[in-house]
Amino acid sequence: MKFLVTGAAGFIGMYVCKRLLEQGHYVVGLDNLNTYYLPKLKQHRLDQLFPYDNFTFIKKDLADRDAIAALFKEEQFQRVIHLAAQAGVRYSLEAPFDYVDSNLVGMMTILEGCRHNKVEHLVYASSSSVYGMNTKVPFSESDTVDHPVSLYAATKKSNELMAHSYSHLYGIPTTGLRFFTVYGPGGRPDMAPWLFTEAILNDRPIKVFNQGKMMRDFTYIDDIVEGVIRIQEVIPELNESNETGSTAPYKIFNIGNNQPIQLSEFIEAIESACGKQAEKILMDMQPGDVPKTYADTAQLETAVGYKPSTTIQEGMVKFVEWYKTFQKEL
Ligand SMILES: NC(=O)c1ccc[n+]([C@@H]2O[C@H](COP(=O)([O-])OP(=O)(O)OC[C@H]3O[C@@H](n4cnc5c(N)ncnc54)[C@H](O)[C@@H]3O)[C@@H](O)[C@H]2O)c1
Repeated sequence: MKFLVTGAAGFIGMYVCKRLLEQGHYVVGLDNLNTYYLPKLKQHRLDQLFPYDNFTFIKKDLADRDAIAALFKEEQFQRVIHLAAQAGVRYSLEAPFDYVDSNLVGMMTILEGCRHNKVEHLVYASSSSVYGMNTKVPFSESDTVDHPVSLYAATKKSNELMAHSYSHLYGIPTTGLRFFTVYGPGGRPDMAPWLFTEAILNDRPIKVFNQGKMMRDFTYIDDIVEGVIRIQEVIPELNESNETGSTAPYKIFNIGNNQPIQLSEFIEAIESACGKQAEKILMDMQPGDVPKTYADTAQLETAVGYKPSTTIQEGMVKFVEWYKTFQKEL
């Protein structure tokens, strides 16, 4: 099958491409290789994809309407896995228009491409951040999520709304995946696993937000990829019963570990993987952050017979091992 995977040089995108390539699919990986973080890390990831004959890399910006329309027309993708985005909650306070360009205009060019080229299934990344300050746990796909607390979250919720309108109007099957804090080898330098590991290994103090009173549903990358790969095979159908009254071929799933842990337990897992204690600076809550994320994964389990299960202790050992090797390459 022929896939378009956007964000192919990104953390999740690279692993999704790799799994599809191993399964023998033809994959066009698209990325604009922006410099939000270490370009060398994006290159390091792409280097793992280039050896596959069934892989083609295209450097393009999703906000380039004409280029994306031409790409869809020329390639006639059967399935699209849209993972490119300007990620990060805190950066959305600094550079809001990057989020508009990549996450809103970028989603639009993908939807238009799917609309005009009869794509069988569009799977796209949403985020647990859409749950905002939701206090009902675990977070369920049927919870009301109309109160985002960051622009990043607002763009992700908007992606779900845009997808619904295109599923409804043009019958495009779409599946949105609400990822819960993904980590693992090759992970992002702007996220806590990297920042804490870097600080601990270099004897620098770590900033512990909200005095450590935060809970996160950390999800190991292999678990996320397994979920994405299985879900792209489950194409939503028109007229499936849906509690919202919508008959569009549209689905939303949480992909999280269903086992949130305290920040303190997370730090202990990193300390143990690094073989060193952290020096901690207790800080207040950051604007846009949420105190707790906790995924209800029952719908995912019903749809694909699977739920993430890697523990933070297992996952962090693998991350720290990779991190040390990668630092030597820099
Ligand atoms: N990693 C997580 O914990 C997490 C959690 C929730 C949601 N998500 C979502 O999952 C997806 C993948 O996340 P990730 O962690 O792999 O992020 P990432 O930043 O590593 O990957 C995103 C990739 O998209 C590319 N990109 C950004 N804007 C682009 C544009 N306009 N045109 C083309 N390429 C563009 C970037 O260069 C990058 O390589 C994103 O949509 C993100 O919002 C991630």
